[in-house]
Amino acid sequence: MAYDFDKIADNYDRLNHLMTFGMDRYWRRHGVRWLTRGQWRPKCIDVASGTGDLAFEMYRVGAAEPVVCVDLSQKMLDIANDKMSLEAECIVADAEALPFEDSCFDCVGCAFGIRNFVHLEEGLREMVRVLKPGGRMMILELATPDNPMLRPFYNLYTRHVIPWIGERIAHNREAYTYLPESIEHFPKGKVMKKILSDFGLEVRQRKLFFGVCRMYLSIKS
Ligand SMILES: C[S@@+](CC[C@H](N)C(=O)[O-])C[C@H]1O[C@@H](n2cnc3c(N)ncnc32)[C@H](O)[C@@H]1O
Repeated sequence: MAYDFDKIADNYDRLNHLMTFGMDRYWRRHGVRWLTRGQWRPKCIDVASGTGDLAFEMYRVGAAEPVVCVDLSQKMLDIANDKMSLEAECIVADAEALPFEDSCFDCVGCAFGIRNFVHLEEGLREMVRVLKPGGRMMILELATPDNPMLRPFYNLYTRHVIPWIGERIAHNREAYTYLPESIEHFPKGKVMKKILSDFGLEVRQRKLFFGVCRMYLSIKS
């Protein structure tokens, strides 16, 4: 069963920015720049949109309005709606069964969402299905760093500091213990590229901040 983000919606943005030292904003901005490059008013969807920060970046760089935000959590989408009441259309729906026709978006984005899908391949199949041929898909996801020298620092931070911050600020240690565990078990790098290319996508990966964040940039042929 998918984790219920309603439980942490109120503190989600604050904790996200705190735990990534504000880098999450830059990562989304960087991804959206690639996603929308060279397109005039592209039709964009932010899958597993949460509080809508990726959708907001899409709107900021000139996506056609409304940017579509899809998420399972009503409370997360309520916050997205407060940020962009007119510029976004927020829909509670499962990424694994998107309520849209085939090939109707120029750009599909998903930031820190796919790790939470119950069936990764179903979600990806849907994201590719709604993307137009020639359209772009950008996925941001957290990962463990490749460099073994960094691992002890990374493990200390994610296994101890993050759950502690989660408990102090969101009063929810469980959610922030789940976070590092889900990152460790999620495919990354070549494995993730292979999963995406099996959907007929042309895929590149960019590593951000020592590979702690991965950006998968795909084009549908
Ligand atoms: C870590 S948050 C990411 C939120 C946002 N995209 C961001 O950039 O911060 C993960 C989000 O994925 C959503 N989610 C998880 N599984 C989903 C699914 N199958 N369909 C739609 N949303 C899903 C959760 O409700 C949650 O809001």
